Amino acid sequence: MCGIVGYIGNKPVYDILINGLKKLEYRGYDSSGIMIYNQKPLVKKAKGKVSDLEKLFVNSADKQGYLGIGHTRWATHGPPNQINSHPHTSNSGEITLVHNGIIENYDSIKKILTQKGYVFHSDTDSEVLVNLIEDIKKTKNVKLGKAVYFALKQVIGAYAIVVFDSKNPKEIVGARLGSPLAIGLGDSEYYFGSDATPFLEFTKRCIYLNDNEMFIVNMKKGLTLREIKRDSIIDPYIEELKQNIEEVEKGGYDHFMLKEIFEQPHSIIDTFRGRLLSYNQPISISSLKKHFEEFKNAKRIIFISCGTSWHSSLLAEYYFEELLRIPVEVEYASEFRYRNPVINKGDIVIPISQSGETADTLAAIKMAKEKGAFLYGICNVVGSSIARETHTGVYTHAGSEIGVASTKAFSCQISLLLLMALNLGQKLGTLDQKRYYRIIQELEKLPETIKTVLKSDPIVESISEKYLDAENFLYLGRGYNFPIALEGALKLKEISYIHAEGYPAAEMKHGPIALIDENMPVVVIATRKGNYHKVVSNIMEIKARGGQIIAVVSKGDVEIEKLADHIIEIPDCNELIAPILANIPLQLLSYHIANKKGCNVDQPRNLAKSVTVE
Ligand code: F6R
Repeated sequence: MCGIVGYIGNKPVYDILINGLKKLEYRGYDSSGIMIYNQKPLVKKAKGKVSDLEKLFVNSADKQGYLGIGHTRWATHGPPNQINSHPHTSNSGEITLVHNGIIENYDSIKKILTQKGYVFHSDTDSEVLVNLIEDIKKTKNVKLGKAVYFALKQVIGAYAIVVFDSKNPKEIVGARLGSPLAIGLGDSEYYFGSDATPFLEFTKRCIYLNDNEMFIVNMKKGLTLREIKRDSIIDPYIEELKQNIEEVEKGGYDHFMLKEIFEQPHSIIDTFRGRLLSYNQPISISSLKKHFEEFKNAKRIIFISCGTSWHSSLLAEYYFEELLRIPVEVEYASEFRYRNPVINKGDIVIPISQSGETADTLAAIKMAKEKGAFLYGICNVVGSSIARETHTGVYTHAGSEIGVASTKAFSCQISLLLLMALNLGQKLGTLDQKRYYRIIQELEKLPETIKTVLKSDPIVESISEKYLDAENFLYLGRGYNFPIALEGALKLKEISYIHAEGYPAAEMKHGPIALIDENMPVVVIATRKGNYHKVVSNIMEIKARGGQIIAVVSKGDVEIEKLADHIIEIPDCNELIAPILANIPLQLLSYHIANKKGCNVDQPRNLAKSVTVE
């Protein structure tokens, strides 16, 4: 969480910082601040959005300068207010720092610095770090780069930092451990960002820092990259970015979330590109081909992830066990990493993550790796920490997802997981050929089918209007649709702040049924194949208790139409594909309810897109 930007070069820095922070607001948006250097550092900070920070720059003289750093915050230590926002400045006023992460031993360092006479104004760990750097610089009489190096040797925790020393205004220093940091290379100019979006419009040449790496950018000497543990200079690996700026803009939609929902047909095309060529050609996923033996000999597959990606993992359990006949376990990364799980040789661990930066998932990967597991990652963000930490894997290629609530990334994850299961199932001989071809033929048409589902938007919007005052929602589904019930409920609660629970439909009578009365809307995913008649019985039970039913049904359903208060149709399809389609009206329902309630759909309270703290 938290977004970092920075720039040193020959362009006016103000717009680069402000626009860069706006692109990173998805990472945290409770307060923000920038430092611009023009003969001396000028720091301005504001509680609230980057737009609140902009309001502080009424005087154009304050915007002048060619070097600066900025930060948009998701509070960890201390409430979101002006004092706790970044940049933080050292006691002498010379060193300024922006930080994303957590310094776990900040309290003990703070005590030592306090004894030495340092004074702290904020509650943050970051202010401790900037003063530690200053203290080392002064006591050891070293330059900023060395001071940062020695300071980082003392701290425990996670960080991406960018640091500036006004005594040497031609230089910027930065480092990473656990939190992402990218450097954009221009013509005698350097951009810094928590990801590449702040500089995408200026340069496509990018270096992603690895853990334990630090950089010193000096306008005379250029860029130096160092490995902190070995204290050695390393050669930078420069990537050519393929993303373009349109991807990170709203493109005429009111919100990123809506844009991303409507982008799904195209995102699925990108996910399948080069992998699902046509129904009579074999599926081609190069990492699965290369590591087929590992899957063939696997005794067990363990999926680890958080949030929406955990819902993908749950659906993967249904897909993989059905089509591969290999036992599957699904774990919350945060639980998995802190218990002492049994991991045997021959176990495959599959982390799933949109951002590729989720701290718990990353830590769980490292732990599983140490225990000898084979790590196969599924990530969306190319070059992300999780993608680099795993032995091999596959990208979802959903494109940039800016809305905090995950939509297209989820659809791409589950479509890819189905494709993987079909590929492996066919090669392992655990999947009947006729069934394989039937599903593949439908999967090929998935982008078009999703377009049909999106046409239900006006119906979903009109349904949403009736439930703006609801205080609770239940979401029910069985089999392949159960993970979709969980995902539907999560989507609603995170953006509309309405309490919602997802349940396997049959579990309802073991407790939740007690909640049902005329004030309880119940969303039931009741597509035709699978456990259809059992779900119909569940609907009758809800009806008998006065609950209001919103049912997602297969086109042409007449039975549920008679029982439900509202129906939303999706095309009739294979039961393994139904969850991918059924999820889309639920995304739209959450979006419209939240939007009509006046909630901030793209940046819901207390959340951030990339959860880089545990
Ligand atoms: C919900 C949502 C979160 C993320 C979770 C994991 O809409 O986006 O629940 O799914 O924080 O994030 P990733 O997939 O980036 O590891």
